[in-house]
Amino acid sequence: MGRRLEGRTALVSGALRGIGRAIAECLAADGATTIITDLDNEDSADATQATATIENASYIRLDATSEGDWQAARDRVAAQFGRLDILVNNVGADLTGKVQDLALEDWRRLMTLNVDTVFLGTKTFQPLLAKSGATTPYGSSIINISSIMGLVGMSEVSAYNASKGAVRLLTKSNALEFADDGVPIRVNSVHPGFVETPLLHKGMARWAERDGTVTAQQLIDGMAQTTPIKRLAQPVEIGKVVAFLASDDASYMTGSEVVVDGGWTAR
Ligand SMILES: NC(=O)c1ccc[n+]([C@@H]2O[C@H](COP(=O)([O-])OP(=O)(O)OC[C@H]3O[C@@H](n4cnc5c(N)ncnc54)[C@H](O)[C@@H]3O)[C@@H](O)[C@H]2O)c1
Repeated sequence: MGRRLEGRTALVSGALRGIGRAIAECLAADGATTIITDLDNEDSADATQATATIENASYIRLDATSEGDWQAARDRVAAQFGRLDILVNNVGADLTGKVQDLALEDWRRLMTLNVDTVFLGTKTFQPLLAKSGATTPYGSSIINISSIMGLVGMSEVSAYNASKGAVRLLTKSNALEFADDGVPIRVNSVHPGFVETPLLHKGMARWAERDGTVTAQQLIDGMAQTTPIKRLAQPVEIGKVVAFLASDDASYMTGSEVVVDGGWTAR
């Protein structure tokens, strides 16, 4: 039996580490030609290691907040591969703190990283995804990485909540727009719970420093304990769901929000 993404080309933003890396590995394992993108230079140790270990993978430096970088990446992908079937808008960062203490410039930086990046990726690659989608049975697939924090509010998480809520609805309006216009691109969002990545560890270290009464490890243990299945997710557990949404197995899914949270939002 052939692998379900054989013949498809995928691009993942922020894919050298964490969830993006696992997504790239899962897409490649399903047979996709995978373009890893991140901030590191093309000859960096991490980029070289990633392309050496992930099957059929190449690397393009792409600052996902830069429209010029997206356009340059699109031109390279079109020239080199002639198609793009799967776009995963994964780049994102966190920001915590009480609303009255948040600086406007930090708020804006978060919106740029978490929302502009999804808009820019979608806008820039829409024509190539549409063209490629017309050649496959169920079209191309955009997957936007939101969060459980895009579904429910949490104290001291207002900026991240607002940004991830925006990703959730941007996904739905783009899905409807493409469907209305007969453009063969499905668009879905994925909402991970707490995933063991560099972002989670760094974010909790900052929270512990600000709070002064808890350690980062206590905060992380608390997250596992408040998750119904009592552990954090591993990045691959998100990657496998993204690979499913990228494939024809998810042919009737568009505008959906797929929650992968160990039961966290079930209560
Ligand atoms: N870790 C979690 O618990 C969790 C939970 C829910 C949702 N998410 C979301 O999943 C996504 C990935 O998170 P993660 O935990 O893997 O993060 P991470 O910080 O561990 O990794 C993010 C990657 O993106 C890259 N990156 C950062 N800014 C970039 C930019 N401007 N352009 C290109 N690349 C850039 C980084 O270099 C890094 O390789 C984010 O959107 C995040 O909000 C994470």
